[in-house]
Amino acid sequence: MQTSRTVQIAAYGGPEVMKLVELPVGEPGPGEIRIRHEACGLNFIDVYQRTGLYQNPLPLTLGMEGAGIVEAVGEGVTHLKVGDRAAYASNPPGAYSQARVMPARSVCRLPDAIDFETGAAMMLKGLTAQYLLKKTLPAEGLQPGDHVLFHAAAGGVGLIACQWAKALGLQLIGTAGSDEKCRLALEHGAAFAINYQKEDFVERVKQITGGQGLKVVYDSVGKDTFVRSFDCLRPFGLAANFGNASGKVPPVEMGLLAAKGSLYVTRPTLFTHIATRESTQAMADDLFAVVRSGAVKIRIDQRYALKDAAQAHRELEARKTTGCSVLLP
Ligand SMILES: NC(=O)c1ccc[n+]([C@@H]2O[C@H](COP(=O)([O-])OP(=O)(O)OC[C@H]3O[C@@H](n4cnc5c(N)ncnc54)[C@H](OP(=O)(O)O)[C@@H]3O)[C@@H](O)[C@H]2O)c1
Repeated sequence: MQTSRTVQIAAYGGPEVMKLVELPVGEPGPGEIRIRHEACGLNFIDVYQRTGLYQNPLPLTLGMEGAGIVEAVGEGVTHLKVGDRAAYASNPPGAYSQARVMPARSVCRLPDAIDFETGAAMMLKGLTAQYLLKKTLPAEGLQPGDHVLFHAAAGGVGLIACQWAKALGLQLIGTAGSDEKCRLALEHGAAFAINYQKEDFVERVKQITGGQGLKVVYDSVGKDTFVRSFDCLRPFGLAANFGNASGKVPPVEMGLLAAKGSLYVTRPTLFTHIATRESTQAMADDLFAVVRSGAVKIRIDQRYALKDAAQAHRELEARKTTGCSVLLP
């Protein structure tokens, strides 16, 4: 039986709990494939799973995004064959590995024009930007010229969203934690950038929108920004919280939504959007098209050997990374 070097945790904790172990990799069962990774994506959800903020049975292999070659195909899998180039964002975790067996449902053929590192970097983050900007919309929709607020705009999801929003004609107001990161967001299509370490983002949004406020805010920072972001919204605006980089959002008093102007709140996850093979492929086709068109470039600013996954987590948590990061098995 084959084995694979794989990053595993036996207990929740800091980056030091991540260990490189050699695990057996079996044959795919019905509806599964075996993939040999060329690159694996790093995502903030990997940190939540490592710390136990999101709980999974232990021991746990980490990683939810990867790209590589399909090595074996189980019964009933028709959209992939041995030798295909492929990429995915998927549950269950296990992408920090040389090879794995996994459900085929979330795995898509990777167009030849897209290299493996790009494929590994863009699936989870790009599909997230896709469902946020195209499906997580205020009741009245978004029209070209509308302002939207996007927190952590220089991160992995953030730089993709900056470019995609511009391609859709939206004026994205990005926040980021340094002047350098703000510059990066602007270079990638943000119409405005706010250094929220130095500036009051609520005041700046009011200025930028001439006091009107926004139809929607996309917030993955969570605890430090979510409730304050309500003050950036116009009546009937939508506050979408899709992450917890600064910690979980505390429970929201429902009356606050009335007081701030009959606001809407949603807490979406990519995994609802990619629950079926059909929805996954449709979203991936949209992502592949925008990347192939050049309108969205996948910027990989950090590359780590798989054995250095702990270092990758330290840098991601310390806000030292920009754009996407990949692990190379
Ligand atoms: N719900 C979903 O479907 C879904 C899917 C994918 C990703 N996400 C979420 O989207 C966010 C972005 O993911 P990503 O993988 O692309 O990560 P990332 O944006 O590259 O990294 C997270 C960024 O959050 C910002 N941040 C603000 N406060 C922080 C703090 N206290 N500690 C650490 N970082 C802080 C940092 O940027 P600044 O220094 O500029 O503030 C940091 O670079 C994450 O929250 C992730 O969980 C959600």
